[in-house]
Amino acid sequence: MVFSLTTERLDLTDMTGGDLLKIRRIARDPGVMRYVLIWLENDEDVAGFLNHAISEAQAEGRMQYHLAIRIRQTGAFAGIALLDIDPVLRTTAEVGCILLPEYWKAGYASEILESLLAYGFGPLALHRIFGKCDALNSASARVLEKGGLTYEGTHREDVWLRDHWRSTKYYAILAGEYRAGRR
Ligand SMILES: CC(C)(COP(=O)(O)OP(=O)(O)OC[C@H]1O[C@@H](n2cnc3c(N)ncnc32)[C@H](O)[C@@H]1OP(=O)(O)O)[C@@H](O)C(=O)NCCC(=O)NCCS
Repeated sequence: MVFSLTTERLDLTDMTGGDLLKIRRIARDPGVMRYVLIWLENDEDVAGFLNHAISEAQAEGRMQYHLAIRIRQTGAFAGIALLDIDPVLRTTAEVGCILLPEYWKAGYASEILESLLAYGFGPLALHRIFGKCDALNSASARVLEKGGLTYEGTHREDVWLRDHWRSTKYYAILAGEYRAGRR
């Protein structure tokens, strides 16, 4: 069965083999990938990422949701949304998204975050959801803040990201905070 989440303007669905070229477009755009900590450095990495996403979608006790973002009105592929449950802790997950540039600044990331939080704290019954971003990625930080996640600190220069030492900002929201905010 194909998994999907819906937002006001988007469908977030399991990926298919037909998404390969679009994911390749994301991977080849340095402006999109500048701050992204997913290794899609060549076509082999892209194919591996997609194959992993497709096989994870079939897994029993699914822990990873790597979803295609599609504009409902047109069906166009707009990017990738992620919800990764920590396989050891099981009650914590990371969320994130990558959009093609023509879809930036239209409120889509905020819509996606809202939907991932609703799914994570609803059907998945998670206790904690976090997002992390490059300290230079002000767009991503703003999305997380706007979504109600609290800034928890920065890991200084914790990873070499293609051309710079990335410092990583962490944001999180707890189930109780989420429920209190929705009253
Ligand atoms: C980060 C990203 C997902 C944001 O998506 P988006 O759909 O443009 O974000 P939204 O339209 O929902 O904007 C949410 C808030 O962020 C702000 N924002 C968006 N882009 C911004 C930018 N470049 N600089 C500063 N603020 C920005 C918006 O103004 C809005 O805040 P406001 O309501 O107070 O005005 C998108 O820029 C992207 O895909 N970037 C490339 C991949 C990436 O870096 N992903 C994150 C990896 S951690």
